[in-house]
Amino acid sequence: MKIVRTIEELRAQLRGQLRTAFVPTMGNLHEGHLSLMRLASQHGDPVVASIFVNRLQFGPAEDFDKYPRTFEDDCEKLERENVYVLFAPDERELYPEPQDYRVSPPHNLGDILEGEFRPGFFVGVTTVVLKLFHCVQPQVAVFGKKDYQQLMIINNMCRQFALPTEVIPAETVRAADGLALSSRNGYLSAAERAEAPQLYAQLQQVKAQVQAGQPLADTEQQAMAQLRLRGWAPDYISIRKRRNLEAPTPAEHRNGEPLVVLAAAKLGATRLIDNLEI
Ligand code: PAF
Repeated sequence: MKIVRTIEELRAQLRGQLRTAFVPTMGNLHEGHLSLMRLASQHGDPVVASIFVNRLQFGPAEDFDKYPRTFEDDCEKLERENVYVLFAPDERELYPEPQDYRVSPPHNLGDILEGEFRPGFFVGVTTVVLKLFHCVQPQVAVFGKKDYQQLMIINNMCRQFALPTEVIPAETVRAADGLALSSRNGYLSAAERAEAPQLYAQLQQVKAQVQAGQPLADTEQQAMAQLRLRGWAPDYISIRKRRNLEAPTPAEHRNGEPLVVLAAAKLGATRLIDNLEI
């Protein structure tokens, strides 16, 4: 695997490639990321990964400084997955001057759910992803469904800007107890780690109740109350339409609109997100 630090070196390495498959990451790679690399290799060749902890997508009170940085370990994992190039720019390379030009997702998608609780997050994500796409120029790019809203926003960005990159969604990888793998799971204490699968358990409960015909608002409220009783601080548990993340009307729900339940909740100091298609 070649590790390249500059955009110029990256372009030189990839010149002439016709089906580059790209997986952008912020590092601290776990089995979830590696499953993205494997999916990428089924859709393109060579596979290019990036590691860049993107300051633009972190709020002032968020965990940019303490975000786990495990570069050597990450490189060993990527080598084992036969990744061809790892693009690992530093901030001066990717943001040599203040990034004044930014991508602004539409408010009805970018400012709801995660966007409501993390203002500016999706502007930061789409701006860096667009920039990384210009650096790598991939034909395909893989994003996990764990970040459901991020995946939709990036997909829409590619469509609206007519980018020549096909976005491939990857299923969420879970620990045996159901907890979705995430770099932020590493922040959990042993007691919190034991409690953490409850988030997914609540989503499964929501799914079962919706399928049994229980009203959506009651179901959401009950799930949030359950989490609060167990010591969580939920930001939202919300049932939305899969196609645009808007709330379904009663008529749409009656007519079988495909739904997804999305959740974000704090356990101690750690904020976890998850979702489940219904
Ligand atoms: O999902 C992530 O890890 C990040 O949001 C991404 C897509 C690498 C952009 O920094």
